Amino acid sequence: GAPVTADISALAEGERMILEWRGQPIWIVKRSQEILQLLPTLDDQLRDPMSENLEQQPEYIREANPELRSLKPEISVLVGLCTHLGCSPEMVAEIRPAPFDPNWKGGYFCPCHKSKFDMAGRVYSGVPAPTNLVVPPHYFADDNTIVVG
Ligand code: FES
Repeated sequence: GAPVTADISALAEGERMILEWRGQPIWIVKRSQEILQLLPTLDDQLRDPMSENLEQQPEYIREANPELRSLKPEISVLVGLCTHLGCSPEMVAEIRPAPFDPNWKGGYFCPCHKSKFDMAGRVYSGVPAPTNLVVPPHYFADDNTIVVG
């Protein structure tokens, strides 16, 4: 499929834009500084905290920041499909413990079989999803323009 372009100038902190690329939902999420500081503290609860599985994101994204998985720290771009069986995870873009699991402080939660991810799409240990959410290939054409594909 052709690349898709998104203008993120109106994207506010904690918000998500949803695009479609190659028949898949693409999420663009603006994360708060609080979340960016939280993410590296979660590493020991995660299956692949340093994003070593290069099938889950392009190498240039890993090199930019393996824990945040983004080119610009605050802007996360993800394929919005659970890596277990492809359900659509729910987003909680604020730090709060979940009643069902105080260790999960927001991120993405898949209602189908309870997989948990953080706000970088990194999967927690001990859930059915085998890998982190996929970061699609993308780049910034300018400060507020993302090209996916
Ligand atoms: Fe998400 Fe099974 S499809 S946990």
